[in-house]
Amino acid sequence: MTLIETVKEWRAWRKAAGKVIFVPTMGALHEGHATLVREARKMAGKEAQVAASIFVNPLQFGPNEDFDRYPRTLEADLTLCREAGADVVFAPAVKEVYHEDRSVQISENSLSKVLCGASRPGHFDGVCTVVAKLFNLVQPDEAVFGKKDYQQLAIIRRLVRDLNFPVEIHGVETVRESDGLAMSSRNRYLSAAERAQAPALRAALVKAREAWQSGVTGSRKLLEIIHQHLADHASLGRKDYISVVDRHSLQPLEIVKNDGLIALAVFFDKARLIDNVELLK
Ligand code: PAF
Repeated sequence: MTLIETVKEWRAWRKAAGKVIFVPTMGALHEGHATLVREARKMAGKEAQVAASIFVNPLQFGPNEDFDRYPRTLEADLTLCREAGADVVFAPAVKEVYHEDRSVQISENSLSKVLCGASRPGHFDGVCTVVAKLFNLVQPDEAVFGKKDYQQLAIIRRLVRDLNFPVEIHGVETVRESDGLAMSSRNRYLSAAERAQAPALRAALVKAREAWQSGVTGSRKLLEIIHQHLADHASLGRKDYISVVDRHSLQPLEIVKNDGLIALAVFFDKARLIDNVELLK
C-alpha cells in the first residue's frame, strides 16, 4: 500500500490509476472504517484501486468543537487501511489542501439546516467543501460512506446530484459494538459510566422501530418511546435532538408510512453521539 502526502504526487498517482473506489475518512479509524474499506475492496475486485483519504478537515469543526483534540493516529490508521485492502492512502497536511487566502466554498441550503446541522452551523458546508475538493483530487468512480452519519450521506448524494460529480455513492450499514453502540472515533471520550449508558441510544431506536413495525405510525408516539427509554437508561446524556424525518428530504414526518428515519444526537460530557434507524418496509 502506498502513502501519498502531497497533491503533486497524488495527481501523478491518479493519472496512472484506472478505476478508483474511494473511502474518505478523518482518521482515528476503527472497525467501522475497516468495514468501509473492505466493502470498497469487494466493489473494486482485482481491476479497480481502493483509495482512502485521512484528513482532519478544519472547516467542518465549529469554534468550540474538538478539532485540536481530535485523535490523530496515522500509523495505526495506515495499518488498518492496509489490512482492510486499501491500495493507496492520501493523507495530506492542512496546507496541502487549503490555501491561506481561500475564498470559495460550497454551501448546502436545505438538508443541512436540520438535525445535526441545526446545532452545528457551518458543519455540512465544511463537509461539502472538503468532499468536493477530495472528489476533484481523487476523481473516484465510486465512493463509500457510512450510514451512521445518515444526514452526511444524504447531503453528499445531493452534492453529487446538484454539481454533477460523476461519482456513484454507496451507503454502508453502521458497525456496532457487541452491546449495540455505534462505533465512533468519539466513543473514546466517554467515561466508564457514560460508556455503560451509551448503548441505550441504539436500544431506544430499536424499540421505536419495533413499535413502528407493529403498527405505530405516529411520530409523536415513536418519540415518546425513545424519550422514555433514554430517561430510564441514559440519565448522563443530554438530548440535542431526536427527530422522525423522511429519509431522503430529512423533513419532519407526522406519520411514517415508509422511507422514514429516526435520528438522534445526545451529548455526554465530552462526546456528542449520533445514531439513527431507518423505517423501511
Ligand atoms: O465522515 C467523515 O469522516 C468526514 O465527515 C468526511 C466525509 C471524511 C469529510 O471530512
